[in-house]
Amino acid sequence: MSDAKLQAVLSSLSPAARQLDALPCDRPAPATDYIKLNTNENPFPLPTIVWQSAIAALERQYLYPEEDNISLREAAANAYGLTKDHVIAGNGSSELLGLIYRAFLAPGDSVAMISPGFSFNRKLAMLQGAQLLEIGTSEARSLPLEQLLLGPANNAKFILLANPNNPTGTFVPVADIECLLAQSNRLIVLDEAYVDFAPDNGLRLVSRYPNLLLLRTFSKSYAAAGIRVGFGFGHPELIGRLRNIQNVFNMNVVGHAIGTSILAHRAAYEENHQYIRHERQRVTTALAQLGFSVTPSYANFLLARVPEGKDGRWWQAALETQKILVAFFPDKSLGDCIRVSIGTETQMDAFLAAVGHISEILRSGRSRASRS
Ligand SMILES: Cc1ncc(COP(=O)(O)O)c(C=O)c1O
Repeated sequence: MSDAKLQAVLSSLSPAARQLDALPCDRPAPATDYIKLNTNENPFPLPTIVWQSAIAALERQYLYPEEDNISLREAAANAYGLTKDHVIAGNGSSELLGLIYRAFLAPGDSVAMISPGFSFNRKLAMLQGAQLLEIGTSEARSLPLEQLLLGPANNAKFILLANPNNPTGTFVPVADIECLLAQSNRLIVLDEAYVDFAPDNGLRLVSRYPNLLLLRTFSKSYAAAGIRVGFGFGHPELIGRLRNIQNVFNMNVVGHAIGTSILAHRAAYEENHQYIRHERQRVTTALAQLGFSVTPSYANFLLARVPEGKDGRWWQAALETQKILVAFFPDKSLGDCIRVSIGTETQMDAFLAAVGHISEILRSGRSRASRS
């Protein structure tokens, strides 16, 4: 296609995609000798019994998966004490987030999110032509109820809370969320992607409040990020509206089998979750000794403010030269932070050794400069 023709075609399309000025990231997956601590996966293999269910499912690869994910939704309903009409299953919870934006927002509407929050929401709001109101309570330990109930958030079509929050790892009391649900007539989307690493959860609120949509994923605490399994729980009227607009066959037979098997074997993950909590504390302490200021985390990652002198982007690049990947966010309030997932003990030892090594180089550079 000639350039002129391409430009004519592109400008004839709807403006939604044009708002996203950059092409999607097309960096290949890092080589396997990189330590990947940038996207909060769980570093352990699936329990053998769960793994076997995937192999069995592959024997049905020539058939379409079950329509509307009925067996998986039933299994989730049984596991979480709900009915299947309260449950929608997604190809990861990010699919469900996308459905919520498409179902409940029109161009010009607004949606509110605690800031800093899960950045994918910015893209979803933009694609919908909606305004994302970021309510600034950086690293707060409680909900800004007044701002959410009385400020511009009160006109938002829905309010997004992630608890624990990404990228801060902070956790607000479930009682605060219940207060908001009780006092607001807005839809509250409670994203509990990291809740299995936290002391409490909001599941008991689903049957009490028709204005709650609760999201869960098996990507973080159940080590299935590559399989793509997520759930939404809420009033059947809300869930039905989302199921109505969902793609047919949105999941595959392996996702169905692994999701169902995880639900039956959740107890097999207890040690995994205990390890993450323990390692999170060990790395927090070690990073503090290296001059980082770490936000107390209730998730499987740490938000660490880097020592004065260099910013988060610099540290991210320096660690990459040591084959360690961590996350950096260009937001103003996070410019001096990196976010580090909790990996295996060996991975975290390598990460801490690399941080120590880089700190040492910085220190010796500074003392050389002060001598000259
Ligand atoms: C807060 C939060 N919600 C949702 C997701 C999406 O998870 P998935 O699509 O893998 O289920 C993530 C992933 O990082 C997240 O951090």
